[in-house]
Amino acid sequence: MSTYLDRTDTIETDEVSRTPFSLPALVDALESQTSAPTLEQIYNWLENAEVSAEELAPYRGFKDGNYWRHLVCRNKFVEMLVLCWRPGQRTPIHDHNGSHGGVRVCEGTMWETTFTYDPTKGLEYKSASEYQTGAVTGSDVPDIHQLGNPDVSEQDMITIHIYSPPLGVLHTYKPGSAAIDLYTPPDPE
Ligand SMILES: [Fe+2]
Repeated sequence: MSTYLDRTDTIETDEVSRTPFSLPALVDALESQTSAPTLEQIYNWLENAEVSAEELAPYRGFKDGNYWRHLVCRNKFVEMLVLCWRPGQRTPIHDHNGSHGGVRVCEGTMWETTFTYDPTKGLEYKSASEYQTGAVTGSDVPDIHQLGNPDVSEQDMITIHIYSPPLGVLHTYKPGSAAIDLYTPPDPE
């Protein structure tokens, strides 16, 4: 009997980990948090996200000058944003100042460049990666990176971001410099 129950538990756990998350289901999951979710939990949500174009429609909006941040939900433990990027739009080089988080590419192609920082050497290039539609990546503390929609993509990009705790003032960096500046992302709308 106990073996039977154990197998049932295993199957149920497996099913839970593969449960697809619509955008409303993601909002429910985030709003029910009573503590900060781990990076692994954020990956699980994003890797199992199945967000339709209709669900994204209220958050679909682009600006010519900069990528546009749209807030989906936020509490003191976690926040979710939809970012809309024209070709060539990108973030500054930044870290998340103590937050960890993940990103899922919903439409388009994303470039990520990562860096290391040493107080004496300054900022140094580490790696570059390309993520296609459906890909998920993340940033732990104290990762330094830059995200963008390649100017050569010739298509808009839409990404979903989950951060815990919600982003506040970030640190920004410049290649070849040891200077660290403070940066407050534009208020999500
Ligand atoms: Fe970031």
